[in-house]
Amino acid sequence: MGWRAYGVEQGSRRSALDVVAKQLEEIEAAGTWKTERVITSTQAASINVANRSEPVLNFCANNYLGLANNPEVIAAGKAAMDTHGNGLASVRFICGTQDIHKNLEGLVAEFHEMEDTILYASCFDANAAIFETLLSPEDAVFSDELNHASIIDGIRLCKAQKARFRHRDMGHLREQLQEKKDARIKLIVTDGVFSMDGNIAPLCEICDLADEFDALVMIDECHATGFLGQRGRGTDELLGVKGRVDIINSTMGKALGGAMGGYTTGPKEVVALLRQKARPYLFSNTLPPAVVGATTKVFELLMSNSDLVEKVQANTQRFRKGMEAAGFVVGGDPEHPICPIMLGDARLASQFADEMLKENIYVIGFSFPVVPKGKARIRTQISAAHSEADIDRAIQAFRAVADRLNFDPANVKLD
Ligand SMILES: Cc1ncc(COP(=O)(O)O)c(C=O)c1O
Repeated sequence: MGWRAYGVEQGSRRSALDVVAKQLEEIEAAGTWKTERVITSTQAASINVANRSEPVLNFCANNYLGLANNPEVIAAGKAAMDTHGNGLASVRFICGTQDIHKNLEGLVAEFHEMEDTILYASCFDANAAIFETLLSPEDAVFSDELNHASIIDGIRLCKAQKARFRHRDMGHLREQLQEKKDARIKLIVTDGVFSMDGNIAPLCEICDLADEFDALVMIDECHATGFLGQRGRGTDELLGVKGRVDIINSTMGKALGGAMGGYTTGPKEVVALLRQKARPYLFSNTLPPAVVGATTKVFELLMSNSDLVEKVQANTQRFRKGMEAAGFVVGGDPEHPICPIMLGDARLASQFADEMLKENIYVIGFSFPVVPKGKARIRTQISAAHSEADIDRAIQAFRAVADRLNFDPANVKLD
């Protein structure tokens, strides 16, 4: 792209920008440049993309329940703007708390069967806030090595003793709990679902270890809330450990309408302390009424009607079975709508995604460093918004592209 102006004076403003430009060139050279495709429609199963005459089927959104353009959700957002305005121009504790914020916090707590909830502008903020607020040097945090970046960053901000256990390795977690058994608060934190693989944390075993070592358990449910488990309550419901998980952080930016916002739900003492001390809560603006109104409608829908949960689960089964019958290796947990289609080779993954777009299917290839070397894949995400015909069309396209590229999925190994 030609970012740099060469031969400029050291220490000048231009040379400072040169340092930045050099990084851009390195990203380009490494082949990890992220290009953003521009969508000109709502987020949905079928979307319009700039400079394409035909719509494409979207198989890479976190729109698990298809609520991103749901008419009832949109109407509720608009109604909240009419009654409560565009924004609060304040953080919560100054003059930014409205009745609708308190109502939504109560609803979220009820949904998760917790005591109280605190809202944030994002789950990234919820994860950035919690460790620094709860933990001091006499405490210890135990974190799965593949936890989301926001958990990693949140832990960096706190002064607790830190232990990182090997991915889903309960033997390793036990060793670390043993080593730090005298810590005052012990907090085990894991993604409920790991988004690159769509695999699920061993929560039963984690809760057993927590009982044994008197630890608290916190899960990040961004890829679970709203659709995993029989009523869509999440990983704790799916694995039968409801009531044994102490703290849940999750997002409103994925299954729950796809707008933005995050929360922590859990014991009332934890939520109360977060309201007093959490920096992303104290020093960042209140969620806007439109988001609060729309998300409230999402929770009301989920608590009154679980059709959407059944739909995404049925679609997931149709896609997984169809892809396996077509010869592909599908990674991840069999229950989860994240379905990584394993290809192995990085170049192939990127070429495969480009060819899929020619078939009007929008998917993304993931390769190193986002996933381990040799484990490149197309990560597909299934939604309740997909029709059976959409699912079948995607499977057909995968098969057609594999044939065109002379790719035999039988040669792919999962481990
Ligand atoms: C596991 C996990 N945690 C946290 C986040 C951050 O959520 P938000 O978009 O609400 O900041 C994400 C989003 O990508 C995520 O996947």
